[in-house]
Order: sequence, then structure tokens, then C-alpha cells
Amino acid sequence: MASSPSNPLLFAFLSLVFFFFFFVFSENKSFVSAIREEVSELQFTHHHHVPLTSLLPSSSCNSPPLGSIRKGSLQVVHKHGPCSTLKHHTSSSSSSSFIIPHSEILKQDEARVSSIHSTLSKSHGHHHHHHDEEVDISKGLGGQDKLPAKSGSLLGTGNYFVTVALGSPKRELSLIFDTGSDLTWTQCRPCASSCYSQKEPIFDPSLSSSYSNISCSSSQCSQLSSSTGNDPACSKSTRACIYGIQYGDSSFSIGYFAKEKLTISSTDVVEDFLFGCGQNNQGLFGSTAGLLGLGRRPISFVEQTAHKYNKVFSYCLPSRASAVGYLTFGGGGYSSGNVKFTPLSSISQGSSFYGLDFTGISIAGVKLPVSASTFSSGTIIDSGTVITRLPPAAYGPLRDAFRKGMSKYPKAAPVSILDTCYDLSKYKIVAVPKVTLSFAGGVNVELDARGILYVVRETQVCLAFSPNRDSSIATIIGNVQQKTLEIVYDVGAGKVGFRPGGCI
Ligand SMILES: *[C@@H]1O[C@H](CO)[C@@H](O)[C@H](O)[C@H]1NC(C)=O
Repeated sequence: MASSPSNPLLFAFLSLVFFFFFFVFSENKSFVSAIREEVSELQFTHHHHVPLTSLLPSSSCNSPPLGSIRKGSLQVVHKHGPCSTLKHHTSSSSSSSFIIPHSEILKQDEARVSSIHSTLSKSHGHHHHHHDEEVDISKGLGGQDKLPAKSGSLLGTGNYFVTVALGSPKRELSLIFDTGSDLTWTQCRPCASSCYSQKEPIFDPSLSSSYSNISCSSSQCSQLSSSTGNDPACSKSTRACIYGIQYGDSSFSIGYFAKEKLTISSTDVVEDFLFGCGQNNQGLFGSTAGLLGLGRRPISFVEQTAHKYNKVFSYCLPSRASAVGYLTFGGGGYSSGNVKFTPLSSISQGSSFYGLDFTGISIAGVKLPVSASTFSSGTIIDSGTVITRLPPAAYGPLRDAFRKGMSKYPKAAPVSILDTCYDLSKYKIVAVPKVTLSFAGGVNVELDARGILYVVRETQVCLAFSPNRDSSIATIIGNVQQKTLEIVYDVGAGKVGFRPGGCI
């Protein structure tokens, strides 16, 4: 085929003809690949053209304009970015004060993914009683005995946090929000065994008039077994219920299961919220005070507040660590007209995870030759996993098509689990092939350019997808891909919705 004709009308006409033949003959493989070449010429419909600077984190926080955050919403902030209040920012304006520890993030991401997969395989079919992995909670509180540093039945931590307030009078606490786990907990005084260092003062239940312990004879206490993977213990003196939770990266929290007044915003207060008051906490929680569990099991925030928010929440993760997104509870927030919903599926009985039916991927306007059955091991969407994990049979064709679309850019060394990287430092504008994820119900979600790339530095910008070890394990939609999408979890109605352009 001759290269682009000089006459733009002729070019447009030829393009139309090619699209026509594409639809008619799309079964024919060699023809399809010829068409792909042609389609790649149509850069402006099938590529994002983005300034390189818009991919890089800026050194100052780009807060949304006043009033653009919805009433009752929490701001969602990246742990390592300049909007984070958890760090001591040096006054120097050099961007080096916000260095994001990429190799650490990607390593922790592997730990999270392998614990998700082990949780899912455990709960599939035969149910094992894993006594060997149980934590001796009472010893954990005594402090002499360390918890086994095994890969637990639960997950490591995510990278985004929100700030809520607990107790009366209320105290602000920044909590990692996590759709992949259920128990909400925060570090508590007197830190009977140990607390890691956090930015805000550690919550002191003795200073709050609305705090009370849950008794170990209550049904609430027994709910802990399924939600934490560990049977609760009972304090000898006061018969207080003691929880213990371990995460995939050997982080853990042990303490009193309690209830307290939780303040989301001036108009949104949850009385008697069940949470873990952690007396022995260790792990990769940064300087946050703990975790907000948004999973599907009964003690999660979503289930506990069902009467108030109808099991609806939505969030938008910002495009860069230098911007903020939001987390909203209740259905009042979203403009349903623009949200496209796909049914929630239950990937395994009683798990924390939000399952979806993933049906395919398109890149640069061409649907990859990957059948929906490639995803038959199930798919979850997770706020805490960073990089999307695909079955090898889907990742290979995606990577090949992406490399083709990016062939004019110089390659760069791979980093960790990312094998397709480019040096974009010489370019002002970058053309990134558009990627669309398809879900059951004909829902096509076009990713933002920042949802396709993982930027380590301008000389190392990588395709932000990675293959699973084999096809028998679940696909995971990670948080890079979720950037700038408003994602609505309507758990009561059994559906998850997507709206592009949810935040900056
Ligand atoms: C909760 O239980 C712990 C452990 O027995 C005890 O030290 C604490 O005083 C109790 N708090 C309240 C408010 O009852």
C-alpha cells in the first residue's frame, strides 16, 4: 500500500473503504493485519496525544477548585505524592522531594497479587481449614511472640488514602482505602505491644466518650472469623473481643474489636461503627493511621452502613500523584446517565472481592484476537493492586500491538514486572495507542493515557499491564487503569459502573 496520499479527501475516502472492508472481512487474519497497518495511520482517532509533562508528577499539589468536591465526599490522596499531608515536605521546590519509590511499590504489588490469588484458590471448591496459618492473637497482644511472617489469607496495602474522623470529640485519621479487604482498623493507645509511626496522633479510646468494646460473646465478635481469616480471642479480664488480621506482605494488626462514632463529613456521621482498635500493628502502611475496608463481607464499611448509603459508593483516582480524587458514599453523588454499568459477579463464595465479567481488550481501535473464554478464571477490580494483571494469552497480543503502536519511540530497560518501556524524554507530545477494556453488558471503558502507562521517569515510561503466571488465575483490574474514571459500586443492585472523565 502506498503511504498516505497527499490529498486529504482521498485519504478520508480510502480510510472509509478500509473500515468497510474491515467489518466485512474481519475474519480473515492476514487481511486484518493489513488493515491494522492502515488503522495505525489514523493516529488522531486511535491515539491519545498527550504532552509528556502531563504524564510526569508535578512537584506541587494540584488541588481541585473549591466546591468541585461533592458534599459528603472524601478527598482521595496518593500516599507518596505532593498532596499527601503524611509526609514532611521540604521547602525546596525541587521535584526530588517527592520521589516515588517505584521499585518498592511494584514489589509490594507482587505480594498483594499473589495473596489475592492464594485467597481465591483457597476459597475455590474444597475449603481448607488453615489452622497452621492462624495467628495466636492473645500472644500477639502480649508482645513476646511475633506473628508468623507467612503470606496471610489477606492483602497488602494500597497507595491511596482518605481522611475521616473517629470518636467524641472527633480525631482526624488518614486511612488507606481498600476494596479488597473488610475490617477497618486504626492504631490505638496505649499500643500494648507496638505501633508504627504515623503522622496524626494515635487514637486514644480512653479520651472518647463514644467508644465501647465489643464483648467476645456477641455475634459481632464471631463475624471476625470469616472477615479476617482468624478466629477472635477473648480478653480474660474484661471479656473484650480481640481481632487479628494479617496481610499478604506480612503486615498485621491485632487489638480490641470495638465500636465508635465515625464522622465522614459534617453531615455524614455513622454511629456505632465496628472497627479494630489496634494495639499491635506492623507493616507497610506508610504514615497512615490504618485501613478503611470497603470489601463485600459483613463487617466492611459498605455492609455496616447499608441502611445509610444503600451499599453504594464511588471513587475517582486522580491521573497523577500531584492531584486529588474523591470517594463518595451513597447514590446521590453520581450522574447515572453517563455511567455505564456491568453486572457484579461473585468470583468466589463469600470473598471480599468485587468480581466483573471481562470480555476483551481493544487497542488503537482494533479488538485483540482474544476470546472471552481467555478470562474464564474470573476478573476482579481492586483499588489496592497497582498494575492490571492479564492472562498470558491476553497480555501477549496486547503487548505486541502496543509495541507496534509505539515503534517510533526508543525502547528503555524493563523495570520489575513491566517489560515494555520507552524513553520519551526527547518528545514534547506523545502518541499513546488508545486502550479499551470491555465488560459484560456491552460496556466499553476507554482508559485515560495515564491509565495505560506507568511512568518511572521520563526516560522509562512503561506499559502498565503485566501477565499472570498462568491462565488458571484471576485477572485483576488495577488502580493505574482506574485513573480518572469515576467507578460506581452499586452493591445492592449488583453492578459496577464506569464514567470517563470523573476527575483530573
Ligand atoms: C476495653 O477492653 C480493654 C481490655 O480488656 C480494657 O483495657 C479497656 O479498658 C476496655 N475499654 C472500655 C471502654 O471498656
